[in-house]
Amino acid sequence: MTRVGTLRQFEILLAVYQQGSITAASQTLHLTQPTVSMQLKKLSDSVGAPLYDTIGKKLVFTEVGLALVATAREVLASIDRLGMTLADLQGMKAGTLKLAVVTTAKYFIPHLLGNFLQHYPKVDVDFKVGNRQQIIESLHAGEHDFYVFSHPPEDQELALHQFVPNPLVAIAPQDHPLANQGILSLERFAQEPFLMRELGSGTRHAIERHLQKRGIALNVKMTIESNEAIKHSVMSGLGVSILSQHTLSFGGSQGLVALPVSELPINTQWFLARLPNKQLSVVANTFLDYVEQQGRRQLIAEMASQNA
Ligand code: PGA
Repeated sequence: MTRVGTLRQFEILLAVYQQGSITAASQTLHLTQPTVSMQLKKLSDSVGAPLYDTIGKKLVFTEVGLALVATAREVLASIDRLGMTLADLQGMKAGTLKLAVVTTAKYFIPHLLGNFLQHYPKVDVDFKVGNRQQIIESLHAGEHDFYVFSHPPEDQELALHQFVPNPLVAIAPQDHPLANQGILSLERFAQEPFLMRELGSGTRHAIERHLQKRGIALNVKMTIESNEAIKHSVMSGLGVSILSQHTLSFGGSQGLVALPVSELPINTQWFLARLPNKQLSVVANTFLDYVEQQGRRQLIAEMASQNA
């Protein structure tokens, strides 16, 4: 078994698996396609079985291929951790912090990272952003140290670190007729044309759950894949919406007004989630300590000053 693949072959295999194609992987790796194919062929020969089948234009990994992908991930992650441990022994915190965060968290995580990196300038960050569903897929691949959600998946065992509040508020254009009429009932608000985030969004998940529990249906007029596009559409009078307060306080709220609606905001929380069985690297541990000891406090203070 000691002759199963080289580290370089493992890197190539992972790139092909992640990109889903030899052409794309060879571009990322700055190698030619024949080199990538040849290295995969050698890897396949060393285990004595094909790693994937080509169906149409799609690469479908075999069971053997998937087992090798899992091993390659573990081996390369453990070498990364070794690098960080060695740096730590030399009195340095250096290496890569791997974070995958949902789109709405991208408004405030950079503020946390800015402060963290000032303390640890030799750390670099691999920062993936996607909607809730895409981040759940990253979680299944297990390549990141932490995942930031406000609605972590319930069907997966996770270590959850409660982080900061995430209120979801009702927004309307500044000159909306309902803006000066005091507190509105949720039923009345729900009659307005509503701009909804896409399927797979955590914000949408929270809104749907909140309204379903109360037996209220929204008047959804448009589905839009981005918080920023929703804000601009609300500004231009296309409808109202419910978004995270952070999209306004960190992302700007010009032209918008928060409507006072009964039974809103929807009070959710951000969580830093991690896979309980994945060993934390020195850098990941340092980040977690930083968040718990000062990062969270600083971020809450920053959020309060943004909302003031
Ligand atoms: P979203 O997620 O950006 O996918 O809406 C936010 C969340 O998890 O609450």
